[in-house]
Amino acid sequence: MDLQHNILGLKTSATLAINELSQKLIKEGKEVFKFGLGQSPFPVPDIIVKELQKNAHQKDYLNVSGLIELREEVANYHSNKNQYKYNAESVIIGPGSKELIFQTQLVLNCDLLLPSPSWVSYEPQAQIINKKVHWIKATAETNWHLDPEELDKTCANLNSVNKLLILNSPNNPSGTTHGNLKELANVAKKHNIIIIADEIYAELDFTGEYKSITHHYPEKTIVSNGLSKWCGAGGWRIGTLVFPDELSYIRDSVRTVASETFTAVSAPIQYAAIKAYSEDHSEYLENSRLILKMIGDYIYKELSSVGVICQKPQGGFYMICDFSNVVNKTHEINNDKTLCQKILNDIGFAMLPGSDFGMEEDKLLSRIAFVDFDGSKALKMISKEKLSSDNFLDLTCPKIAKGISLLKDWIISK
Ligand SMILES: Cc1ncc(COP(=O)(O)O)c(C=O)c1O
Repeated sequence: MDLQHNILGLKTSATLAINELSQKLIKEGKEVFKFGLGQSPFPVPDIIVKELQKNAHQKDYLNVSGLIELREEVANYHSNKNQYKYNAESVIIGPGSKELIFQTQLVLNCDLLLPSPSWVSYEPQAQIINKKVHWIKATAETNWHLDPEELDKTCANLNSVNKLLILNSPNNPSGTTHGNLKELANVAKKHNIIIIADEIYAELDFTGEYKSITHHYPEKTIVSNGLSKWCGAGGWRIGTLVFPDELSYIRDSVRTVASETFTAVSAPIQYAAIKAYSEDHSEYLENSRLILKMIGDYIYKELSSVGVICQKPQGGFYMICDFSNVVNKTHEINNDKTLCQKILNDIGFAMLPGSDFGMEEDKLLSRIAFVDFDGSKALKMISKEKLSSDNFLDLTCPKIAKGISLLKDWIISK
């Protein structure tokens, strides 16, 4: 396969590109509302930061699969959340779940099934290694959930092919949580599908419940997770994969590739991460969810009031907005990319076009990430006083309130 050709055909990850463009506008003195990049606004809990400071001296290469004490904690955590018995051997620690998902794709001889919309990096990862991708369309009517019947239909045409499905819930970009995991599990069983359950936002489900397809189909599901979203530690670069015994051959292959590529995750980070799994962070998490839900509800209400079609976020910090009712297509705005470009240029509101997530570009859909606020301040205020939501937003998330207000004015002016 011609890897160089595959890679030359790809561009920089869309999320990073919009961030770079936003930075450029800021440098030029323009005010930018960063609804593009999906980075957690919350600080890493203090107890974990202190542990990192304490372990700055750790300098040895660690086990390729990860520090054993950390893997034990990760296995306990996932045994509890995913209701399945894992042990330290089931776990691989890597430099972010993005890299681990890529390596899993790399070692599997299979086609990739992706619900549309899906997170921006799954498809380019498959393209780099020449893996065939089958998109399965989801719609706003089903809250952007993968429909089990559609999955069944797609698989019926792929009888002789090994199949890998990446299922992300709560979802990036839609912010909705799959309510049909049992039905999807039944179809997956029928077609012998291997699943990567990307649960990077599972702790940020606004109900506080950890929902997973492993509750119905653990035997062929690899759970992907890490500290980037619920723990605010995206820049620490630590992710986890947890494999059931039945898929230990995949785990072993990923370990082999890891040993020849990244070797092991930074030692201080792994020592610190033990505290992420062994301590109770329920207050931090409850407050994070409360704040995110409040902001998601607010944006949903405000944008719906001017005719944008959107769904209430159920977890994480994203939502999909459909501008087709409020923006007439012109030669200037004829697809989702030109729509996002125009809004960024006109009012400094940065968001990502739906086509970056596998949606049709003439549909005028975009993804909003509602993270442009000071998470430390928001957590302090929510734990100090019980503020009414309007008050809270004005005080702690002024860029969200101003950005959404400007976007509403822009829409009304159209
Ligand atoms: C759905 C989804 N999966 C995986 C990742 C990768 O996270 P990390 O590599 O930081 O673990 C992200 C990051 O934005 C994401 O949104």
